Amino acid sequence: MPRSSTPPRRISRALVTGASAGIGEEFARQLADRGTSLVLVARRAERLRELANELATPDRSVEVLAADLTDPGDVARVEARLAAEDAPVDLLVNNAGYGMYGAFTELDAERQVDMVTLNVATLTRLAHAILPRLRASGGGGVINLASTAAFQPDPYGAVYGATKAYVLSFSESLHEELRGSGVRVLALCPGFTTTEFQDVASVDQGAMPSAAVMTAGPVVRAGLAAFTRGDAVCLPGVLNKLMAGGAEVTPTAVTRRLSKIAHVRFARG
Ligand SMILES: NC(=O)c1ccc[n+]([C@@H]2O[C@H](COP(=O)([O-])OP(=O)(O)OC[C@H]3O[C@@H](n4cnc5c(N)ncnc54)[C@H](OP(=O)(O)O)[C@@H]3O)[C@@H](O)[C@H]2O)c1
Repeated sequence: MPRSSTPPRRISRALVTGASAGIGEEFARQLADRGTSLVLVARRAERLRELANELATPDRSVEVLAADLTDPGDVARVEARLAAEDAPVDLLVNNAGYGMYGAFTELDAERQVDMVTLNVATLTRLAHAILPRLRASGGGGVINLASTAAFQPDPYGAVYGATKAYVLSFSESLHEELRGSGVRVLALCPGFTTTEFQDVASVDQGAMPSAAVMTAGPVVRAGLAAFTRGDAVCLPGVLNKLMAGGAEVTPTAVTRRLSKIAHVRFARG
């Protein structure tokens, strides 16, 4: 995997989207353990406030910024926070997102388009809001949540897989554009990770072999280690590495059929 050559600057403050649950909450906890101040973003303000109360110390501030990241006005408030020079944010964890599994024509159109807004458009806007300041300062970075779904077409997860393919391509491109600037961009590509994601996406957890299932802790540890190393892409877990590596060297006509078989198994209903 390509790496940034400059050593990382210490991260003082991180803004984590989707910090009210799952991988985002785990990012908040592990960053707090490293002494990083936080800005927590999600819709469920009460959950964010509870987490902030738990993680804040005299040396580590934790702000709560309740926002629906499909709402343009709310997105503008988060963009303003990322661009602010006061108490500057030097790491953006672009994590908020959801999936939907089932036949494209049977899934709700509005909710699928909202997924594109959140997973793609908002993620892009937030990166655009922080990167000019980071580039000028010569440090910090962005971690974008992609997925193993990014490595092949995803029948019965068509829109979700396409959003994550965008995130992977976008992140790798930015990684190269910013090479040598001191600013790091990483695509973190988890496979099946036990969080609220499965309920939101109507995925049958039991259909996934347990060896392929991870928890948020090791996923986030792998992501932070990869960011520190200056990697462009992180695939946590041996099985996920093998599956994504296999998909990259197998003809798409084959991977899309295999992917369809896998998704039919775990798409509920
Ligand atoms: N779990 C997996 O198997 C897996 C695998 C690969 C990639 N990922 C990716 O990892 C990221 C985190 O997923 P997760 O597994 O941690 O899922 P999760 O437990 O469902 O958490 C999703 C987070 O996103 C927030 N969110 C959802 N819609 C939002 C909106 N409109 N505005 C603001 N925040 C919103 C949720 O907060 P509120 O509901 O409070 O707004 C929640 O904090 C996603 O991008 C997902 O695609 C997950």
